[in-house]
Amino acid sequence: MSLDRYYLLGRSGLRVSRLALGTMTFGTDGAWGAWGSTEEAARAVFDRYLDAGGNFLDTADLYTRGTSETLLGKFIAERGARDRVVLTTKYTYGLDPGNPNAGGNGRKNMIRAVEASLRRLGTDYIDLYLLHTWDRLTPTEEVVRTFDDLVRAGKIRYAGLSDVPAWYAARAQTFAEAHALTPFINLQLQYSLVERHIEHEFVPLAQTLGMGITAWSPLGGGLLSGKYRPSQGRGEGEGRLTKDEAGSKLGLFTEQNWQIVAAVEKTAKELGRSMAQVALNWTATQPGIGSVILGATKLAQLEDNLAALDFEIPAELRKELDQASAQPLPFPYKMFGDAYQKQLHGGATVGDKPVGYTPPVWTGNPAITG
Ligand SMILES: NC(=O)c1ccc[n+]([C@@H]2O[C@H](COP(=O)([O-])OP(=O)(O)OC[C@H]3O[C@@H](n4cnc5c(N)ncnc54)[C@H](OP(=O)(O)O)[C@@H]3O)[C@@H](O)[C@H]2O)c1
Repeated sequence: MSLDRYYLLGRSGLRVSRLALGTMTFGTDGAWGAWGSTEEAARAVFDRYLDAGGNFLDTADLYTRGTSETLLGKFIAERGARDRVVLTTKYTYGLDPGNPNAGGNGRKNMIRAVEASLRRLGTDYIDLYLLHTWDRLTPTEEVVRTFDDLVRAGKIRYAGLSDVPAWYAARAQTFAEAHALTPFINLQLQYSLVERHIEHEFVPLAQTLGMGITAWSPLGGGLLSGKYRPSQGRGEGEGRLTKDEAGSKLGLFTEQNWQIVAAVEKTAKELGRSMAQVALNWTATQPGIGSVILGATKLAQLEDNLAALDFEIPAELRKELDQASAQPLPFPYKMFGDAYQKQLHGGATVGDKPVGYTPPVWTGNPAITG
């Protein structure tokens, strides 16, 4: 089994695989249904993931208009695996036009949504429940208290946040800690070689406040698997990015992204690995990352991706990937770099302080075997 090592997610006792299985593509209904797969293909992916030792499953009420949750619930029941898996789902998006309280982050929608997810999943509890996207309206306190109520009511076991501003996550966690309410153990955020913005704010936030990050779209929707490269005769009509109805390729066909794809290709060749494995390995082994959420529409893709943690990227090659994907530092982060810091510390570097002087930063996810 390639996934039989389980890590603690954030500051919690919950043990999860470092490769999670995303099920956004289970089913073909709804706005993104064109990216999805049939029940048969989804079942094959699910079964293989469980057979490999994986225990961490991700869905949302939004995905394929509820079909993802329905299929996942069915597959879990067929395998009799409910207690073995860590089942994650999310709420926020309304599927009832004209009803403002059937969407958003508020208490009324959250309780409606959790009951609907439980019904579709065919279970009486969710292991990890996430706010899907910040609604810009609901007071943070209302959200934190409702998560706590759902834990106390036995509907969910743990709480987390996805796609929120960093200040919001810090506010929510601090409020929860100050009032001894259920803490947030997980931040689910987009992260890959083609999307590195979380490194400035979210990674130190998660490490300091005890939240494990789970990375979504670690292959940039398939871009980093190498199959899109129109300039080199590859890449039309092969997957999600060319099925994109708006024809935007999700904004990913840019010059810098082709350079990143080229760097991944070079590393993959030198290591004798697939490009998808290299891109997933890089993401999974970055600071603060608890788990990477795999997406696969075909069994062969999952087989490829499951081997992503069986090797190490040597420092020299990692540096090349880091450099190809680097972005200019936004304000004010360059002020926290060595040059500014040396100046403000009167010429001394932080490293000059005696060991133990700086309180240890919580780095999370100590490996647990078996
Ligand atoms: N919280 C959020 O807002 C949010 C948002 C998005 C996703 N998510 C979660 O994250 C999960 C993963 O996201 P994602 O699907 O965008 O991840 P991704 O890894 O960036 O893209 C996965 C897609 O790439 C292609 N692919 C995967 N492995 C491949 C391989 N080895 N070779 C060639 N092509 C390959 C497949 O699409 P094709 O077959 O179509 O090419 C697959 O569906 C989702 O299922 C969902 O659970 C969360």
